Amino acid sequence: MGPKIPRPRGTRDLLPEDLPRVRLLEDTARRVAERAGFGEVRTPLFEDVRLFARTLGEASDVVEKEMFAVPRRGEAGGAWAFRPEGTAGAARAYVEAGLAQRAPFQKWWYCGPMFRYERPQKGRERQFVQFGAEVFGSACPEVDAELADLVLTFFEELGLSGLELRVNTMGDPHDRRAWGDALRAHFSGRLDGRCSDCRTRFERNVFRLLDCKVESCVDANVGAPTLDQYLGAEARAHFEGFLAALAALGREPVRDPGIVRGLDYYTRTVFEVHDPGLGARSALCGGGRYDRLVEELGGPPTPASGFAVGFTPTEAALEARGLPTAAVLEPYRALQRPEVYVVAITDEDRSAALALTRELRRAGLRADLDLKGRRPKGQFKEASRRGARLAATLGPEERAAGEVVLKDLESGEEVRVPRSTLLDRVRRLLGAPPA
Ligand code: HAM
Repeated sequence: MGPKIPRPRGTRDLLPEDLPRVRLLEDTARRVAERAGFGEVRTPLFEDVRLFARTLGEASDVVEKEMFAVPRRGEAGGAWAFRPEGTAGAARAYVEAGLAQRAPFQKWWYCGPMFRYERPQKGRERQFVQFGAEVFGSACPEVDAELADLVLTFFEELGLSGLELRVNTMGDPHDRRAWGDALRAHFSGRLDGRCSDCRTRFERNVFRLLDCKVESCVDANVGAPTLDQYLGAEARAHFEGFLAALAALGREPVRDPGIVRGLDYYTRTVFEVHDPGLGARSALCGGGRYDRLVEELGGPPTPASGFAVGFTPTEAALEARGLPTAAVLEPYRALQRPEVYVVAITDEDRSAALALTRELRRAGLRADLDLKGRRPKGQFKEASRRGARLAATLGPEERAAGEVVLKDLESGEEVRVPRSTLLDRVRRLLGAPPA
């Protein structure tokens, strides 16, 4: 036996028994997004590292510490990066497809793996799945409200209650500059008690001080200037429009000036969805408006807005509530059970059993059989273990007569049926409409 090679830290293997839960999340995302008119996009899992450095910000944790980068062959200094998030790639694809000229208004959703070299902990992995949505081509605050409502609907359809929608505005660039100056003036000379990250952030991106999760830094942020004092009339009206649209949807957000988001591309609306029960790392979703990103990536000025939900913290929130229930997972678990299990009486019946199994599969049924040479008793046991509804037995007698013995494994009832009517009979026993 060779030495074992463990999976990388911060990753997970999803085995068949885990898939019902994952598929429930994916299907809920798809259903909610498609119902709201979003089209699915799939962009590469890796991109030029500069795409992320330029858009998320050189000083963001994601770019500074958490990037999975791979050197580009033959290009000194060039690198690919496994995508840490989906917005930059979506905006790049939008520009590259020339949509700003052809069909500027686009509503997109995606669901797939993202990679961040973070310290693995509860709710945080190095490979994780995000469900995200991005809307390009509208500056209306109602779009932001539609997105926030969409993600809350996603959580509600999973049965998650007690979540908090926290909202804020980052203002327009000139508001931000004035606020940044005020923050620098406020914090300079007050950096002594802060963590080393904050001291670097002070130089590179002062807003990130407000985002620090270290307890003493959180305390030291009390009394810092807020953007509210510097917010221009347009950004203020936009934020009010967002709040009014949320109110019309019956949503009750919490205004939280501490939501400044860890990525640089945000303008105006920002929001997060939190599960207060999950502690410091309680964000299940982050999002907001990024009106300048398309332009930064070489497209024409195009307003845009979006969000992304992490499945890892969403699963933690579900688990804490004993969700999903067995009843909700049942349709997915059922897909892992054969409808018909084919039993061969003698070794000579095995090929015919395989052919019958294929016939059932071609007719759209979930059918399986034992190919390990078990005796019939063992095959029936296996059929029950796998949770099959029906057993179809083939022996020398049945083959000679062109028949199959069908047994309902729930009631124990048996019937002998001609091959010609087998499919109809199977469907009837399964309670399915005849083909
Ligand atoms: P983000 O806040 O960096 O935003 O990530 C969104 C969500 O992804 C987080 O709230 C969290 O649930 C999840 N997440 C982040 N890192 C990890 C991790 N290491 N392990 C597990 N889950 C994680 C974005 O990514 C933006 N692209 C959102 C967006 C879309 N803004 C506009 N459009």
